[in-house]
Amino acid sequence: MPEFRAPVGTRDVVPPESARWVKLVATCADLVGRAGYGLVVSPMFEDVGVFERLGASTDVVRKEMYDFRDKSDRHLALRPEGTASVVRAYLEQRPPTPWKCWYVAPSFRYERPQAGRYRQHHQLGVEVLGTDDADVDVEVIALLDALYRAVGLQQRTLHLNSLGDAASRPAYHAALRAHLEAHASTLSEQSRATMEVNPLRVLDSKRPEDAEVIATAPVMIDHLSEESAAHFARVQRGLKALAVDFVIDPRLVRGLDYYTRTTFEFASDALDSAQNAIGGGGRYDGLAEQLGGPATPGIGFGAGIERILLACDAERVFGAPESTVDVWIIDTTGGEAALAITHELRAAGIRADRSFDSRSMKSQMKSADRSGARFAVIIGSEEAASDTVAVRDLRHAGPESEPGQQSIPRRELVDFMRKHQ
Ligand code: HAM
Repeated sequence: MPEFRAPVGTRDVVPPESARWVKLVATCADLVGRAGYGLVVSPMFEDVGVFERLGASTDVVRKEMYDFRDKSDRHLALRPEGTASVVRAYLEQRPPTPWKCWYVAPSFRYERPQAGRYRQHHQLGVEVLGTDDADVDVEVIALLDALYRAVGLQQRTLHLNSLGDAASRPAYHAALRAHLEAHASTLSEQSRATMEVNPLRVLDSKRPEDAEVIATAPVMIDHLSEESAAHFARVQRGLKALAVDFVIDPRLVRGLDYYTRTTFEFASDALDSAQNAIGGGGRYDGLAEQLGGPATPGIGFGAGIERILLACDAERVFGAPESTVDVWIIDTTGGEAALAITHELRAAGIRADRSFDSRSMKSQMKSADRSGARFAVIIGSEEAASDTVAVRDLRHAGPESEPGQQSIPRRELVDFMRKHQ
């Protein structure tokens, strides 16, 4: 047993798994880049106040925050999610709006670790600040949908809801509170306490004793102001126009308090329901103000890389690439030829690797096989003397009489590999 292990709830991502991360992040960068989103890299920790606005009644703030004091007694916290940091950065930089950005960011939540639930997870996300146009809601949701499609996920359901605006909230909250109070005696103790701080959050309870009261509770979409209702209708029309399937889920309450109007979550139907959220988001039109800035509408999504890859595993799509390189150089003459040839091939854009430590032919062959390379290029004393290389096709499956190996002049190697790529 090693003396140290990765902390509970965290994990190392190593090859070949990490190659999927590279591919997933690149796929996302390409998709959102084409839609005009620029990368934002913000600090992994912030003043704790930035995250306290996520909601005093949310688990993320109440129980799961990694907060600490630094050597100058500043109260800081590791980022539990990406949105608050982006809004803070926006208020500090004041870029022209609409500000469309994306990020790939580790997020920290002191959760009970289990499959698909980590204390450090990684999110791909986008945020758009400075417009409340319903078409932006559609764009953001469609981008996330396109990301899932690009990696080959098919078994997913998009849950869509509207949480209304400041004008719709008071009447709904009053109706909800009245309902919860009328049934308070059957609610769990925790939900009775939550009800006092934020009645909406009670709808998020998974406790069996709360189920009945939640099932009969009034829902926000029946209490939307005219403006919010029109906005929500336009979002739905836009999604239909882009053929993004969704179900209206009036009981979709997200785990953070900043949401207004459009909220959504993608569930993987291939994963267990406890960890099947592969991404979600919504509008947060009041967050900039809560962080001390001018009223600035915003919307975005966050999608867990680990969850997406778990869903990919469950659907058997987006596997790790089988090869790390195209060519493996085997040099039994001391390694200088391998040094020169790998350099030359890589400069020509061909993925090439080699063995080190002057290993035996057998050991170098084993490494070549393990790399998944299509070709081994062999340099023994004979090849070195005649300025040739032996090229062996490692996937050659023909009869013994047809050798999968040929000798070519050393100077023709790059062209040969280009032709066979
Ligand atoms: P969230 O729903 O809390 O939203 O997290 C977004 C996604 O991160 C989840 O759908 C899930 O895939 C993944 N995730 C969350 N917690 C964990 C965990 N402990 N382990 C593994 N994966 C996890 C947000 O964070 C919002 N900032 C999303 C957003 C952006 N809303 C507006 N803009």
